[in-house]
Order: sequence, then C-alpha cells, then structure tokens
Amino acid sequence: MSSLPDLVRGATFDDFLFTPQFSVIERRDPAAIDLSCRLSQRLSLKRPIVSANMDTITRSEMAIAVAEEGGIGIIDRGFRNGDIEPQVREVEKVKRRQHGIIADPYTIRDSATLNDASDAMRRTGVGTLVVLDDANRVTGLLTARDLRFTSRTSGLLVRDRMTPRERLIVSEGVVDGAAAEEVMRTHKIKKLPLVDGDGRLRGLITAKDLLKQRQLPFATRDAQGRLRVGAAIGAKGDYLERASELLRAGADVIVIDIAHGHSVVMGRAIDAFRRQFGDVELLAGNVATREGVQFLIERGVNGIKVGIGPGGGCTTRLNTNFGVPQLQALVECRMAVGDKIPLIADGGIRRDGAIIEALLFGGDTVMLGNAFAGTIETPGDTVHKSVVLPESQKVVRVPFKVFRGMASIGAMVDRLDVEDADTVDVDTLGAEGLEVSVPLRGSARPVIAGMLKHLTSSISYGGAATLGELKTMFWKNPERYLIKLSASGRKESFDR
Ligand code: XMP
Repeated sequence: MSSLPDLVRGATFDDFLFTPQFSVIERRDPAAIDLSCRLSQRLSLKRPIVSANMDTITRSEMAIAVAEEGGIGIIDRGFRNGDIEPQVREVEKVKRRQHGIIADPYTIRDSATLNDASDAMRRTGVGTLVVLDDANRVTGLLTARDLRFTSRTSGLLVRDRMTPRERLIVSEGVVDGAAAEEVMRTHKIKKLPLVDGDGRLRGLITAKDLLKQRQLPFATRDAQGRLRVGAAIGAKGDYLERASELLRAGADVIVIDIAHGHSVVMGRAIDAFRRQFGDVELLAGNVATREGVQFLIERGVNGIKVGIGPGGGCTTRLNTNFGVPQLQALVECRMAVGDKIPLIADGGIRRDGAIIEALLFGGDTVMLGNAFAGTIETPGDTVHKSVVLPESQKVVRVPFKVFRGMASIGAMVDRLDVEDADTVDVDTLGAEGLEVSVPLRGSARPVIAGMLKHLTSSISYGGAATLGELKTMFWKNPERYLIKLSASGRKESFDR
C-alpha cells in the first residue's frame, strides 16, 4: 500500500471510509469516553470542538455554549467599523458568565444612593453588589431584593438598606469550592464574600456558580473557574492594541487569523506580538502546507489553524485556484509538526462523520462554522421568508439566519469605516466568501451533543477506548483503517 501522504494527495473528507474494527466499548457515552485533546501547547479541552471566529457564528452566546460543553469559542473581530470595544465586551461577557471565585465582583460604596445601586444593577445585569467603605473594606451586601418597594425619590443610601457586615457570613483567606459549599450549607446562604485579614474584598462565591460547576463537569475553565474563551485579531492596523484590550478583558488565547498565514505580513505580526506580549498563548493561521506550519513554528506560535479553502462560506479556491484539499493538508501539516504543536482542523466539516476524519488525519481539534449556522446562539437577527411547501404548494413563513464567510462582501463592508463603506464599489473588494440564509434550528447545545455521541461511536467502531488511543492506533497502521472510495462507493456512502 502507498504511504499516507500519497494516499491523501488531492483527497478530502468524502474520499475515505474507515474499516470497522473489533469494538471494546460497552457504552457509547460521551460522558464515559475520554475525548480530551490539546487546543494549543498549554491549553487542553475535554472535547475537541472549537467554534469559528466568524461574525455570523461566534459571539459570547456561542462561546459560552461551546465552552460549557467542553470546547471553546473564538470571538471574531468583525464588528462594525472594525471597532475594538464591542469585541472586548463579548470576551468580558464570557469571562463573567460563570465563575468559581469571582475575583472582581461588582461593588458599590456604602455612601452611594439606592438610585446609583439600581442603575449599577441594570448596567451590569447582576443582582448583588458588594458594599465597600472608602478603604475598600466590606461593609455589607446589597441585592435587588433590598431595592424593592423603594422609590427613586426616597433619598435613601446603600448603607440604609444593605445587609450589614455584622449580619454577613464572610470567609477569610483562600477558600476552595468544597469549603465554600460547606459554609453555604451550614449557614443557608447563597453568597459568600471573601476578605483578607484587614476585611478588604478579595472575591465572591455564589451558590449558583457552584451548582453550575457541578452540572457542567466538562466545561472549559480557567484556574479561577471562569469559562475560557479565545479572540481573533488580524495582522495589520490596530491588531496589537486590539490584542492588548482582549487580554486585559481575560481572553485565554489570541488567534492571529488571516486568509494566508504563510506570509510576510504574518511573520511581522507574530514577531511584534511576541515582543509586546511575551509568551501569551498564541494561535495563528491559516496554512495548509509543511512550509506553512514550519514557518509559524519557527516564529514561536503555540497552535496552528490548518485549512485553505475548505470552509462552507468560502470561495477562495473558486476565485484564486489556490488551496489544498483538507485531508492532504492535515496529513502534511501533522507530519511536519509531529507532537510538538497542536493543529486545529479548520473548515469543511459538513457532516458529523467528517469530525473523526479531521481528527484522525491530523487535527487535534476541529473548528466549525457552517455546522453551527442557524442555531440560536449565532449572532444576527432572525429574518422571516416566505417558502412554498413542495407537497401542498402552501406558502409558509420560515425563520432564517444569515451565515457568511468573513471575506464575503457583506462581512467586508461591515468592517470598513463608515465613510469608506458609503463610497466603496463592492465589486472591487475582491470578496472570497459567500453569504447564505440558513433556516433557524434551535440551540447549538444538542448539535454538539449529537456530534460527541457520533464521535464516541466512531471510537467504538475504530476498536479503541479513547480518542487518543484511536489516533495512536490509526497512525501506527493507517492501512488497517483506510478505504479509498470509488465514485460509486462515495455515492453509496454519502448520497442520501
Ligand atoms: P466551515 O466549513 O465550518 O468553515 O464553515 C469555517 C472556516 O471557514 C473559513 N472562512 C473563510 N474562508 N473565505 C474563506 O476563504 C471566507 O470568506 C471565509 N469565512 C470563513 C474560516 O477558516 C472558518 O473558520
């Protein structure tokens, strides 16, 4: 049999099946089978799913859903006018969503008015404020309940309505989740402020967060128990300022994402990034060749996005005739990096079975755009369109959401400065992406659950007990698994 690189030359997802092996798994249950993987050199995930940094796919809602299910979302940078601040806000929303210890809870002075407190609650969306005196010592807790039935003209101050320090249970020093749970159970409280020896605020633990942690054992969390999130930047213009703001907001990993990552522009951007931010976890892409990954490794990235042109919203290959079929790209890149650098298989996953292909041929994780299109966690408005039902010829109104490539005309125009957007001739932009309407189809969470279930079935068919084991078995003996499909074999397999 020819070597793996020869076999995959020119090949992509629908070109192979895997031969079923003797199964050793009794329960095809994602909760019981190890699907853990590496996103980058220092970040691991319990599930190999990454939502794509596209402006119709990943904002905070999607990033929260994916991280809670064990993967991670990368917040795109495609905001109107190319503004930095809205992207930073999306990162903040993810980091504040769920916490072990809230290191910087929202606070208010005890001398503030109840109106100030009410405004702060509305602005931040939280119902509990820790009350501090001028020396930042905790003097009480104020909840939305304390504001009930108080009028805006009452002139009352926070200290008049708060639960004062002497009636609060607080913990001094470092407290872990189990100890906090014990204190909350004993004293029947839902909020536990943490203070230092001088009574100054050090954090807050809430019962809701502790319960959430227990319900979501696979969630991707940082050392403080907050969900992890990534954020994308470009390689020109304000990208360093953007990175700085995103890191300040708590982004766990930065992705320098440009269409052609094996380029002078990328090299310069990584060098400048490293000079300014030291060894912050950095992903870069996209590339699809041995030379491409080597170029990025030499510049010291911690993970690499692989994929030139397989994406569902992508027209790069049509418009430029450049690109690499995705399985060829993955094998070539994997063989070039060995185990040194994790690879993200980015783009082209159109059915769940393609996920195990991407992972076996070289991806440590898969990045998904199209697979999440139309779910309620995607950003953008729902639009209703009239559709004629084929059987009855009846006209019904169907809800749709927009899915578009980041190099589509719409996405490019939205990123322009307002003044430029009014004057630019869109045909001259050289778009390399599509814009389509996708029927609305519920939450991304069951979509992920289905993918993981199918992934565990793949592991079972592959004769392994874990994802890692299947990868090892596949690379040791690819011939045992690979069936290159004929045109009719492909038809029998995938035409439905
Ligand atoms: P899927 O197939 O999951 O792929 O939708 C997501 C990936 O597609 C890439 N992408 C693009 N590629 N022109 C391109 O050439 C575009 O307009 C475009 N938009 C997204 C990107 O790598 C993404 O993660």
